[in-house]
Amino acid sequence: DKASIGVTGLAVMGRNLARNLARHGHTVALHNRSEQRTRELVEQFGSEGDFVPTYSAQEFVDALARPRQIVIMVKAGAPTDAVIEEFAPLLEAGDVIVDAGNAHFADTRRREADLRERGLHFVGTGVSGGEEGALHGPSIMPGGSVESYQSLGPLLEDISAKVDGVPCCAHIGPDGAGHFVKMVHNGIEYADMQLIAESFDLLRGALGYEPAQIAEVFRTWNTGRLDSYLIEITEQVLAHTDAATGKPFVDVVADEAEQKGTGRWTVQIGLDLGVPITGIAEATFARSLSGHTDLRSAARGLAGPSRTPLSGAEAERFADDVEQALYASKVVAYAQGFNMIQAGSAEYGWNIDLGAVASIWRDGCIIRAKFLDDIRSAYEAEPGLPTLLTSGEFRKAVENGQDAWRSVIATGVRLGIPTPGFATALAYYDALRADRLPAALVQGQRDYFGAHTYRRVDRDGSFHTSWAADGRPEAEA
Ligand code: 6PG
Repeated sequence: DKASIGVTGLAVMGRNLARNLARHGHTVALHNRSEQRTRELVEQFGSEGDFVPTYSAQEFVDALARPRQIVIMVKAGAPTDAVIEEFAPLLEAGDVIVDAGNAHFADTRRREADLRERGLHFVGTGVSGGEEGALHGPSIMPGGSVESYQSLGPLLEDISAKVDGVPCCAHIGPDGAGHFVKMVHNGIEYADMQLIAESFDLLRGALGYEPAQIAEVFRTWNTGRLDSYLIEITEQVLAHTDAATGKPFVDVVADEAEQKGTGRWTVQIGLDLGVPITGIAEATFARSLSGHTDLRSAARGLAGPSRTPLSGAEAERFADDVEQALYASKVVAYAQGFNMIQAGSAEYGWNIDLGAVASIWRDGCIIRAKFLDDIRSAYEAEPGLPTLLTSGEFRKAVENGQDAWRSVIATGVRLGIPTPGFATALAYYDALRADRLPAALVQGQRDYFGAHTYRRVDRDGSFHTSWAADGRPEAEA
């Protein structure tokens, strides 16, 4: 019997995807650059299902039923191009190559166009959920042609996470749409992680809590509207004691956050598309700042308030206030992320269904959360929603939580606890709801020094003021 799908690149992600497919009753052809990994997989997990180990590109291709479906799970960038070039010449019209790595969506667009010319389907797909997700049910975000999804979709839906039987996998849109959505997923992941980290820092600095106590606070939060994987693992990390020193784990970890690049891509593309994703940008810069150890040690002695714990009524309600600030900031971060998907969809003609994106993020992925179901409902009720901030329950939560939100940021400012994520989220909220923005002054400045012109509130057209002469406005010719 021929295999219904093949996986090449059998490091842990590829191996777990292959096992997940086999566990669901699909015959899976296996291939890896070095034969060792292929042999190991069959030795260790061969009993889990039907695997067809192969040891050359031709053997791999010959093992597959048509249309052939090949999943590539190798490092993004040049290694992906190399593997595509290894297999594409051996394939026939209608066969499908799937890139399940974290590729940049622009690379996916390029590859899709190239392979389409050669009669092949190329599906760039986001896969989220880490190693465990790949094995037990990830969230899957496939791009590519509708035709490719007809054969591939059922397999992917089969191995994805499920919410009440609904798969966390849906066809996102043509060419790079799947990888674009995965990129924004990771950007939102950065923003959410930063907001959670700021909450931790505030609880510690303003209440003097130990990490284990803060773990308890997160455990309680996880039973409410913040119920999510990221809050759950935060509790676990904070409750963990370092075996070697007996100290809280979080106190022995170097405080320099690293990144592999998907957050940075989100910010770069956000700038290109002109979408204010300030939460993701602030989170990405916060990681970057943390890693500048020279800069930090040069500045460490600068004067500022010390973190004196609050007392009395303020202390009593502080943890609850932080919960409200976290929730409101999170709504802003997700609102911005979904607006970015909307902008990408419009720019590239992808026609992405935002409700479907929220739906497949409800489980399997790193940002999985109860909250995503509310986002799904919001977009289902109103597909053209300009921002999640104005939608029913979110609007209410943010409006009702804003006193706490403002007060928490003010406390951070007073005690010298940085809250870039909370603060930028509130600034976004206040800027959006403002009647007038000082952008009018910026336009005046631009016109003054560069004759860049401005538009008026009371007349159509473009205007320039002859500043040097008499300050009288003149209509542009
Ligand atoms: C996922 C994760 C995954 C990876 C991140 C980590 O959705 O399963 O997002 O893709 O763990 O890319 O990113 P950083 O190393 O940049 O934090």
